[in-house]
Amino acid sequence: MNTTLYKLTGMEDDISILKEAGSIIRRGGLVAFPTETVYGLGADALNREASGKIYAAKGRPCDNPLIVHIADMEALSFITGWIPESAHLLAEAFWPGPLTMIFGKTDAVPPETTGGLSTVAVRMPAHEAALTFIRESGGYIAAPSANISGRPSPTTARHVFDDMDGRIDMILDGGPVGIGVESTIVDLTGEKPMILRPGYINQKMLESVLGAVATDPAVGKSPEEGMHPKAPGMKYRHYAPRGELFLVRGRTEDVTAKINSLVGEKEAAGKRTAVIASDETVHLYCCKHVKSIGARADEEAIARQLYAVLREFDDMGAEYIYSEEFYTPKLGVAIMNRLLKAAGHKVIDAT
Ligand code: TXA
Ligand code: MG
Repeated sequence: MNTTLYKLTGMEDDISILKEAGSIIRRGGLVAFPTETVYGLGADALNREASGKIYAAKGRPCDNPLIVHIADMEALSFITGWIPESAHLLAEAFWPGPLTMIFGKTDAVPPETTGGLSTVAVRMPAHEAALTFIRESGGYIAAPSANISGRPSPTTARHVFDDMDGRIDMILDGGPVGIGVESTIVDLTGEKPMILRPGYINQKMLESVLGAVATDPAVGKSPEEGMHPKAPGMKYRHYAPRGELFLVRGRTEDVTAKINSLVGEKEAAGKRTAVIASDETVHLYCCKHVKSIGARADEEAIARQLYAVLREFDDMGAEYIYSEEFYTPKLGVAIMNRLLKAAGHKVIDAT
């Protein structure tokens, strides 16, 4: 398959490209598009065959449901059964934006889109081109992150191209994304709202609207601990670079010393190593391939660069990657959730 790449300029002439992208979706094709979180791989959410193609293109397990992206509130009632008051409040506060809500689904949504579940995940992205693309496509876009299953999510069109060239019809290049980690997922079908995947909209922000919000106890736990996450996709190894990633925990001086010694050992054995540091610590490492992910004081930059750094280390063929931990105040839960998964929960104590 020939994959066409179009650059969006944010100007009026984008509309003809977005119309063409919309017509590909209406014909049952696949189009990757930018959102504020990560790039999505879109298909018509109401077309079972089209949704099915997403799984094939990504190599995604078929029990892992897709998020349906909409552009207005009217679309919500067509695909969901009962809409609880809490959903209206959250939509008012955070839509369009990086929040996905789980509802009971109507028959309009085929089981191929929801991995056979009777519920559906819905999000209205805060990205002008994405919203126009959704409208031009008929209003319902099923979209996972536009990466090969298991790899770091794409935050630039280049990342999408590297994974999806030849597998999909079109890539819309809207430049680097603004947030860099996937949306927060909240389940509203139980007694109490529950976070199934942490993201930019953190627990405190949700609680400022809803009062108490729980987090799925399986979030952040290693699969070995035997808990079953409520979002089917959260059980899979994810976001992982090709090299082996380890997180190193402890006081800054212990962490840098430990990483330097680990790097020394591996390099002596002829292994290619890399380090994920921060602006505050990057000068403390003696490794050749050390990369700052951003300043700890600017946690949004850390979230934005996380996946790109993992992909960069893939490109240089790093076999062992050591990373500091980033438990920053607002986004730390989301950032560490992704890093822990990317590392397969391998954490080394520095002390
Ligand atoms: O920011 C995002 O959410 C991005 C952009 C493209 O919008 N999308 C994204 O999709 O991250 P994906 O497929 O990579 O992750 C979707 C997650 C999976 O963990 C899946 O199991 C969960 O959402 N999910 C989808 N439908 C669900 C449902 N009905 N119940 C529970 N979890 C669900
Ligand atoms: Mg994904």
